Amino acid sequence: MDRKKVIAGNWKMNMTASEGAQLIADLKANCDGSCKCATAPEVMVFPPFTTIAAVQEATKGTPIIVGAQNVHWAANGAFTGEISAKMLVEMGVTHVIIGHSERRQYFGETDETVNQRVKAALAAGLKVILCIGETLEQREKGVTEAIIEKQVRWDLADVTMEQLDNVILAYEPVWAIGTGKTATNEQAQEVHAFVRALIAKIFCPVCAGKIRILYGGSMKPANAAGLLAQPDIDGGLIGGAALKAADFLALIKAAC
Ligand code: 13P
Repeated sequence: MDRKKVIAGNWKMNMTASEGAQLIADLKANCDGSCKCATAPEVMVFPPFTTIAAVQEATKGTPIIVGAQNVHWAANGAFTGEISAKMLVEMGVTHVIIGHSERRQYFGETDETVNQRVKAALAAGLKVILCIGETLEQREKGVTEAIIEKQVRWDLADVTMEQLDNVILAYEPVWAIGTGKTATNEQAQEVHAFVRALIAKIFCPVCAGKIRILYGGSMKPANAAGLLAQPDIDGGLIGGAALKAADFLALIKAAC
């Protein structure tokens, strides 16, 4: 199965509107022919909510997809500080990250709330990048696969086979995020293959062949080629290295 690679930048709580527009300008200015190769990946950026409009403006006329970092499950209501799918859709946002480990770790998100967010986003027509991954403690205890299975089953509960076409998974081992400590190619491939087999079991073998599974956790130009060469790694969800135009462009080229 030929799966188009994805290079996605999760800007986290970085980049004001003007800084975000500048980063896009830098990307555009430095994108020579080689980052437009025939098998070019889908390129996505996920700025903070308040930076989205400026980045949409700056990316006009480019194939760069602009997404959001989270979405609430309710259509509207008394949920101070939250953003609904309808609000994102109205501003032209097409993709949303859900279940990032930082949301789970620092903001009390659970598989149950992640599942509610996933269902609401899909119902509103958004494409979802669903993040899963184990902590260091869980890996050392040897329960990585059990944790991943629980997350996949719960986070995607009640999602239909058709809706799964609008889901991209991101395997982000928590111990590799922002630590400079990347999973080895073999460690990452092992979990990606496990996740794909799980999708075959829960949904269908064709679904498993189609779904894109990204790796996230200290991906950078120096380690991207090895990770992206793995048969079940379909791209990257990148934090730190997505904030520097030169690094992000190098990652796009690595996925060509
Ligand atoms: P880093 O690339 O900074 O490790 O972050 C990865 C990540 O969390 C992307 O969502």
